[in-house]
This record gives sequence, structure tokens and C-alpha cells, in this order.
Amino acid sequence: MRLHAGWISPEDQRALVSGLRSVIAAAPLFAPLTGWGKPMSVRMTSAGRFGWYSDRKGYRYIDRHPSGSAWPPIPDRALEVWRALAGSARDPECCLINWYGPEARMGLHQDRDEADFTEPVLSISLGDDGLFRVGNIDRGGPSESVWLRSGDVLVMEGASRLLHHGIDRIAAGTSTLLERPGRINLTLRVVT
Ligand code: SIN
Ligand code: MN
Repeated sequence: MRLHAGWISPEDQRALVSGLRSVIAAAPLFAPLTGWGKPMSVRMTSAGRFGWYSDRKGYRYIDRHPSGSAWPPIPDRALEVWRALAGSARDPECCLINWYGPEARMGLHQDRDEADFTEPVLSISLGDDGLFRVGNIDRGGPSESVWLRSGDVLVMEGASRLLHHGIDRIAAGTSTLLERPGRINLTLRVVT
């Protein structure tokens, strides 16, 4: 896994957030359901050709927001980060937007709903610090944790592409980027 700590300047972080405001206006955040039908604590939406979705039927990509409208385009600023750091010949087809309030967390999981695992997953952190935990390809075993801070870019590629990962907690109030306490994480992915 490659961590580019503080790679995005504060000015570019602000530009990214303003691009996200128009995405969220067109494709409002929602709380996906887990396989057990319980709403996730993280609220989500997407930009791009596909958006990530989950309900009792499982995890998958869908080509429309649950409201029926097409997903808005991926903001240029996010595409620029992908083109600079992903090391991929392709452009991402999904930018998943995760909004963590101070109490939100994300359990350990793998990103495996994409067709081609040779394509990386690139994650951008904005706002309050989030404690990221990375484990193994199989469930269980030892794990390591690192605080992801605003402006950090993490690339999961190669042997790290299918490692379990999640967010244990948010340190509310550690950043002044967003208007209220919380964290935004963007994950950019090639889906097909
Ligand atoms: C994710 O795995 O979808 C999000 C990870 C993060 O919030 O850093
Ligand atoms: Mn993930």
C-alpha cells in the first residue's frame, strides 16, 4: 500500500470539497443497508459511470442513484489525483463518496466488487483524521493501524489490493476543512 501523506494542498482540498458539494446536491447521501438490513453508519453517494450500493441483496455497482437519476460526473480535481498517482492507463469509473460523522465507522472488508484487481483503488481523505486499519487477504490475523489525515492519498495496488481494511474511528475536530465535524473519504476505482 502506498501512502502519500499530505499530498493534496489545503487549497486543492478546498477545491475538491466544493466539487463534492455539487455532486451531493445532484446525488444526495444515503445510508446503504448491510446484508442484515441494518443501515451503515457511514453515509454514501457516488460519482461516475457506476456507484457503489448495498442492500439485503448484497454489495454491487449500479448505474443510477437510488432516486433514479444518473450519477454525476467525477469531479476534475479527483480525476487529476488519480491520473497523477494511480499508475493506471484507465480512468476511474466510480468515485465513491463516504461521509463519516464523528460516531461513524467502517468494519473490516475487502474491495472486491470490481472486475479487474490489477487496477488499483485510490483513496483520498478530507476533513477530520480517521484511524485506518489494514489486515490480511483472509479474515482475521494481525493488523496495523495508521491515522489518515486531510490531504492524504492512499493507493491499494498489487499485493495490497485485496487486503481487508476499515475505519475504526474518527477524531472529531482535528481538521477545519469541513463546516462540521466529520470526515470525507473518496475512493476511486475502475469497475469493469
Ligand atoms: C472504504 O474502504 O470504502 C473507505 C476507507 C476510508 O474511509 O478510508
Ligand atoms: Mn474499502
